[in-house]
Amino acid sequence: MRRAAQFAFVMLTFAVGVSKAMSADVQNFAAVERGRYLAAAADCGSCHTVPGSDHPFSGGRPIETPFGVLVAPNITPDRETGIGAWTDEEFDAAARKGMRRDGKRLYPAMPFPYFARMTQEDVKDIRAYLSTVEPVHNSVAANQLPFPLNQRMAMTVWDKLYFKPGEFMEQRNKSKQWNRGAYLVEGPGHCGACHTPKTVLGGDKSDKPLQGYTLQGWVAPDITSGQGPLAEWSADDLAQYLKTGHNRFAAAAGLMGEVVELSTSRLSDDDTKAMAAYLKDVSGPKAAADSSADAHVMAAGGAIYQDLCSACHKSDGSGVPNLIPNLAHAATVNTGDPTTVLRVILQGAQSVATDKEPTGPAMPAFGWQLNDVQVAAVATYVRNHWGKAPPVSADQAKKERAALDARTN
Ligand code: HEC
Ligand code: HEC
Ligand code: HEC
Repeated sequence: MRRAAQFAFVMLTFAVGVSKAMSADVQNFAAVERGRYLAAAADCGSCHTVPGSDHPFSGGRPIETPFGVLVAPNITPDRETGIGAWTDEEFDAAARKGMRRDGKRLYPAMPFPYFARMTQEDVKDIRAYLSTVEPVHNSVAANQLPFPLNQRMAMTVWDKLYFKPGEFMEQRNKSKQWNRGAYLVEGPGHCGACHTPKTVLGGDKSDKPLQGYTLQGWVAPDITSGQGPLAEWSADDLAQYLKTGHNRFAAAAGLMGEVVELSTSRLSDDDTKAMAAYLKDVSGPKAAADSSADAHVMAAGGAIYQDLCSACHKSDGSGVPNLIPNLAHAATVNTGDPTTVLRVILQGAQSVATDKEPTGPAMPAFGWQLNDVQVAAVATYVRNHWGKAPPVSADQAKKERAALDARTN
C-alpha cells in the first residue's frame, strides 16, 4: 500500500514536472515565433547580413551613411564575436537605447531611435529568436569612420538633439488598426529612417515625418497621403505594394526592393493593411509647384523615349500593371529630386521578386548608350510630359554618373 502511494506520488511529481517543462517549451516557442516575426518587421537581417551570404545575422555588411561607412556587427549567438554572452538587459539597451555593451553610444545607422518605440517584451522575444540562429564566429570592426567622427563621444550630443526615448503610446481616439499601423511604421518598420528628411547632422526633421529623403543614390519619396505623390494611391494600393513589391502605379527596386523582400512581404495581410491605413492618415505638404521645360529638350527627350523606352513603358507612359511601372504616376519620377530617374536610366534596375510575385521584371541600363545631354533630355521628358516635375540638366546627369561609378568601383 505504501509502495503504491509512493509510486503514485512519484508519477504525479513526474507528470507535473513534464507538464511544467512542456508549458515552458510552449511559452518559449511562442516567444521565439513572435521574435522571428518582429525581427522581420524590423528587418534586422538586412543590415546584419552580407547580401547573398549563408550566415544570417553574422554581420560584415557595410552601411553607407552621410558621414562614411559603418559595418554592421555580428548578432548571432556566438559568445566571442557575436552577442551570445550578452544579458537580455544589455541587448535591450542596444536595441532600444543605442547603448553598447561597453557603455559607449551606437551610431544611429542602427535604427535604435525607432526601435525605442518597441516594448521590452518585443525586444526580449527578438532576442529569444536570435538565440536560436546558427552561431557564427566572425569578428567585425564596426566603426571605420574617419577622425573625429570615429569618436563615439560625439553621439552623446547627437542623442540629446535627436533621440527621443519612450515606447509607442496608443492613441485612444484612433482605431485598433490605425494604432497597429502606427506602431509598425514608427517602431520596428523604421520607415522614417529612409523616408523622413534629415538635418545636416543626420537627425530626423521631426516636423516633416515621412516627407521624403534621398540616400545612397535613391529617392525615398514622400509617403504621406496629403497631396504628395501618394495622393492617388488607395490604402489597398499601398498594402499591395508592401506585400508584393508591385501595384498598378509602381514597382519597388533598390533599397525599397530589399525592404519589401526581407520585411514587409513577410508580414500578415492584416499588418500591411494596418500600415497602409496609418499612412493614408499621415498628411503631408502639397505637391511642388508646376514647372515647364524647354521645348527643344522635350522634343529630343520624346524622340529618345519613343525609340528606347516606349516598348516597355508604352507611348502614354502607362506601362504594364504590376510589371512595368506607370511613369505617368510614379512618385519617384514626379518628384523634385531626379536622383532615382537618373540612376535607373544610367544603370537599369531590377525590381523585387516576392513569394507572391516570383519574377521581378528588369530594366536594362542605358548609361553606355546615351551621353549626359541625352540622359538629361529623356529624364526631363518622362518627368515633365505627364507630370510637371522640374527639368534635369546635363550637369546633374554627369554628377549622378560619377556618383554611381564611385559606388560600383
Ligand atoms: C539599417 C541597418 C540596421 C538595422 C535595420 C538593424 N541594425 Fe543593428 N546595427 C547596425 C549597425 C550599423 C550597428 C553598429 C553601429 C555602431 O557601431 O555604432 C548595429 C549594432 C547593433 C547591435 C550592437 C552590437 C555590438 O556588438 O555592439 C545590436 C545588438 C544590434 N545592432 C541589433 C539589431 C537588431 C536586434 C535589429 C532589428 C530589431 C537591428 N540591429 C537592425 C545596423 C542595423
Ligand atoms: C532602407 C531605406 C528604406 C526604408 C527602411 C523604407 N523605405 Fe520605402 N522606399 C525607399 C526607396 C529608396 C523608395 C523608392 C523605391 C524605388 O525607386 O523603386 C521607397 C519607396 C516606397 C514606396 C513607394 C513610393 C512610390 O511612389 O513609388 C512606399 C509606399 C514606401 N516606400 C513605403 C515604406 C514603408 C511603409 C516603410 C517602412 C515599413 C519603408 N518604405 C521603409 C527606401 C526605404
Ligand atoms: C525592357 C523593358 C524596359 C525598357 C526598354 C525601359 N524600362 Fe524603365 N523600367 C522597366 C521595369 C521593369 C522597371 C521596374 C523595375 C524597377 O522598378 O526597378 C522600370 C523602371 C523605370 C523607372 C522607375 C520607375 C519607378 O517606379 O521608380 C523609370 C524612371 C524608368 N523605368 C524610365 C525608363 C526610361 C526613361 C527608359 C528609356 C530610356 C526605360 N525606362 C526603358 C522596364 C523597362
